[in-house]
Amino acid sequence: MSFPSVYLKTFGCQMNVNDSQHMLNLLAAHGYVPTPTPDKADLLLVNTCSVREKSEQKFYSLLGRLISLRKSASVLLCVGGCVAQQEGEKLLERFPYVDVIFGTGSISRLPMLVEKARKTGKVQIDTSFEDEFLSVAGSNGSIASDIKAFLTIMKGCNNFCSFCVVPYVRGREKSRPSGEILREAEHLVGSGVKEITLLGQNVNSYGQTCSGEVTFPELLRKINGIPGLHRIRFTTSHPKDLSQDLIRCFGELEKLCPHLHLPLQSGSTRILKMMNRGYTREGYRDLIQRLRAVCPHIAITTDIIVGFPGETETDFQETVDIVHEIEYDEFYSFKYSDRPNTRASKSLTKVSDKEKARRLSLLQEVQKHITLRKNRRLVGNTAEVLVEGCSKTNAKRLTGRSGSNKVINFEGLPELRGKLVQVEITEAFLHSFLGRRV
Ligand code: SAH
Ligand code: SF4
Ligand code: F3S
Repeated sequence: MSFPSVYLKTFGCQMNVNDSQHMLNLLAAHGYVPTPTPDKADLLLVNTCSVREKSEQKFYSLLGRLISLRKSASVLLCVGGCVAQQEGEKLLERFPYVDVIFGTGSISRLPMLVEKARKTGKVQIDTSFEDEFLSVAGSNGSIASDIKAFLTIMKGCNNFCSFCVVPYVRGREKSRPSGEILREAEHLVGSGVKEITLLGQNVNSYGQTCSGEVTFPELLRKINGIPGLHRIRFTTSHPKDLSQDLIRCFGELEKLCPHLHLPLQSGSTRILKMMNRGYTREGYRDLIQRLRAVCPHIAITTDIIVGFPGETETDFQETVDIVHEIEYDEFYSFKYSDRPNTRASKSLTKVSDKEKARRLSLLQEVQKHITLRKNRRLVGNTAEVLVEGCSKTNAKRLTGRSGSNKVINFEGLPELRGKLVQVEITEAFLHSFLGRRV
C-alpha cells in the first residue's frame, strides 16, 4: 500500500514555518508523507503570508500554477495561513478550485477538513480562532531539525501599528502557560535540540495579558536553566516593551545569544507616531545604548519601512542618519504597501512607487557598506559556532552560526554536526564568513 503524499509551500515569517511543521505532523498521523515537488502530490498545501502586498502576490502566482495540477480529480488543494484568514470564502471568487480554506487558528482541524473535502467533494472553510497552542511534546511529531527548533510562546498582537495586517490575521494577543512552554522546551532538548528560538509577534509582552503568569525575562531565566540546552534566541521584540529587566538578561544569561532583532520601522518620531509605534527616535536610541552597555558585542538587526504615507524627504533622512549612527549588523527593509483594514491604507498622502524604490535602494546601499565594514572588523576574532551541517556550495566545508547569528563556514568533518566549536574568522563577506577551526 502506498501512502498519500503532501506538497507544502510556506510563505512568511518563522511563525508560519513553525505552523507548517505542525501541519505536516498532524497530516503524518493520518498517513501523509511529504514530497518536495507538487507534480505527483495527492495534497497541495500552501501556508500563506499577507504582511506585504508582494507576499500575497507571490502566493497568488503559485496558486495559479498549482490549480492546473488540481484539475486531476484525486488531488486536493488546501490554503492556510494569513491570506486564508484574511480572505476566507472570498478566495473562491478568484480561485474556485480550492478545496480547503483554513485560518491561522484552525490548524489542528486540517486533517479533519481534508477528510471531509475528500468524502463530500465540497469546499471546507474554517477561519475560526479556536486553536490553542500546538505542541510537539506528547505527540510523536517530528521537528524541523534535530539541532535547532522553534517554540511558540505567544501569538496574536494587540498593538495595531497603523501599517500592519498581523492583528487582523493572527487575532488578539495570547500567551501560552509557562509550564507548558517549559515542558515543550525540555522535550525538544531531550530529542537532541541544542538551540531554541522562542516565537511570538511581540515576545516582550509575554504574560501581560494573563494574570499570574511570569514575565518574559523570568521565562528566559527558567529556560536558561534547562540542562543540555546550549542556546536561546527569541523574535520578535517590540521596542516599546523592551524592559530594563530584559536588557539585563543579555548580560546575565549565558545561554541567551548576543543578538537582538529590534524593528525600528522609521527614524522619524513624527512618522513613528503616525505608525502608532509608541516610542520616539530618542527612546529607541537610548535602548540601543543600554543594550550595548550590558553586552558590548551584541549584534543588532532591524526592520525598516520606507515610503510610509506622508514620509517626507526630511523624515527619510532621519532614518538614514539613525542607520548610520546605530550601525546595525544587518537589516530588512521594505517599501510600504497598503494592507486590508489598516489605518495607514486609508491615508491620502501616499508616496509614489518610484520614490519608494529610490529611498529603498539608497538605504540598502548605506547598510551594505556598514555591514561589510562591521564584518571585516571581525576578521581575526574567534567565534563559537553551532555546526548545522555541510555547506551546500563546498562539500569539504561545514556551516553554522555564531551566537551573534553570523553564518560561518569552515573546513571540518561532518561528525561535528550539532557541536559547538571555536572558529577563527579569516575572511568576511556581506552575508557570511570563512574561518578555520582552532
Ligand atoms: N511583529 C513584528 C513585525 C512583523 S511584520 C514587529 O512588531 O516588529 C515584519 C515586518 O514587515 C515589519 O517589521 C515591517 O517592517 C514589515 N511590514 C509590516 N507591514 C508592512 C507594510 N504594510 N508595508 C511594508 N512593510 C511592512
Ligand atoms: Fe504588526 Fe505592530 Fe503587531 Fe508587530 S507589533 S505584529 S508590526 S501590529
Ligand atoms: Fe506573514 Fe502572517 Fe507572519 S502575515 S509575517 S505569515 S504572521
